[in-house]
Amino acid sequence: MTKNDLYLGREQTLVKHFILQQYLERFAIIVGTHRNTLTYVDCFSGPWNVRSDDFQDSSFAIALKQLRKAREIHQRQTGRRLKLRAFFLEKNRSAFNKLSLFTKDITDVEIEILNEKLEVSIPAILDFIKKGGKNSFPFIFVDPTGWSGFAMDIIAPLLQVKPGEVLINFMTEHISRFIESPQDETQASFKRLFGSGEFKKRLQGLDKRDREDAIVQEYGNSVRRTGGFKYVTCAIVLHAVENRTHFNLIYATRNPKGVQVFKDTEKKAMSIMQEARGDAHQRKREEKTGQTELFGGSALYRGGPKNLNNKISGYALLTVA
Ligand SMILES: C[S@@+](CC[C@H](N)C(=O)[O-])C[C@H]1O[C@@H](n2cnc3c(N)ncnc32)[C@H](O)[C@@H]1O
Repeated sequence: MTKNDLYLGREQTLVKHFILQQYLERFAIIVGTHRNTLTYVDCFSGPWNVRSDDFQDSSFAIALKQLRKAREIHQRQTGRRLKLRAFFLEKNRSAFNKLSLFTKDITDVEIEILNEKLEVSIPAILDFIKKGGKNSFPFIFVDPTGWSGFAMDIIAPLLQVKPGEVLINFMTEHISRFIESPQDETQASFKRLFGSGEFKKRLQGLDKRDREDAIVQEYGNSVRRTGGFKYVTCAIVLHAVENRTHFNLIYATRNPKGVQVFKDTEKKAMSIMQEARGDAHQRKREEKTGQTELFGGSALYRGGPKNLNNKISGYALLTVA
């Protein structure tokens, strides 16, 4: 199966994995120059909708591969061997069993796995991070399926880990759709997601893209305040065949170098995304007409619709302290 087959029909995951892959390798190379231990934490590990037998299209396999790559580079160039550690959390029993199968024979990375909900696992995660010692640098990935399970008061202790960086998959489309639901229970869940009900004031009178931008900005601000981060930025991931946002990957750091590396990664990811969207559009046209097109979709797509390109470059720093 080629890489494209693995992500056919789930191009948004291709982009998410590309960003994780590219960013983590650079992160590990840079941070590894002044830290001897890297601690990776995946709070929503999966596997989730994977197609490959060896989990190469899962975030946990991608993360381990990139961290090992960086360790090899360090070893070759400096003779130093970085210590790698990973904590994988997954609440679903059958997904957890697969995760367990994948990790059971790994000996070159210190791994802890837990079959639990994030809501009750914060002490276990913090304990694992602490055991990495003073020279460890943690990177925390939060990749939920909706907006529950990672309320701001729950993840606050993870955001406050210093040193540390966080990447959060914020399901913008889903959240925007329900954020103004009149149901008390839904309102309470959003209040907890953002850490307060203040965000609602910012949304008043806003429509469509402005409203969506304000939602992402408000969430980013809350992450920054709660974690005491200096910088929060994000990468937008669009639907493959529809001209709207799927999700935003929110990245928080205390180091300007991190922002630069993340923005470089985002730039590369945007061309991967536009190519994948071009191919997806072409597939859709071909299905409709029953005719195979001569040129590849990405060649014809030329970077996608103008207004979305503006949007892609529209987010620089989401929020700065
Ligand atoms: C979007 S998937 C993760 C995908 C994975 N990070 C990747 O990119 O390959 C979310 C996963 O989190 C798990 N999950 C959902 N709610 C959870 C919770 N409250 N605590 C821990 N895991 C949860 C789901 O069972 C699912 O496997």
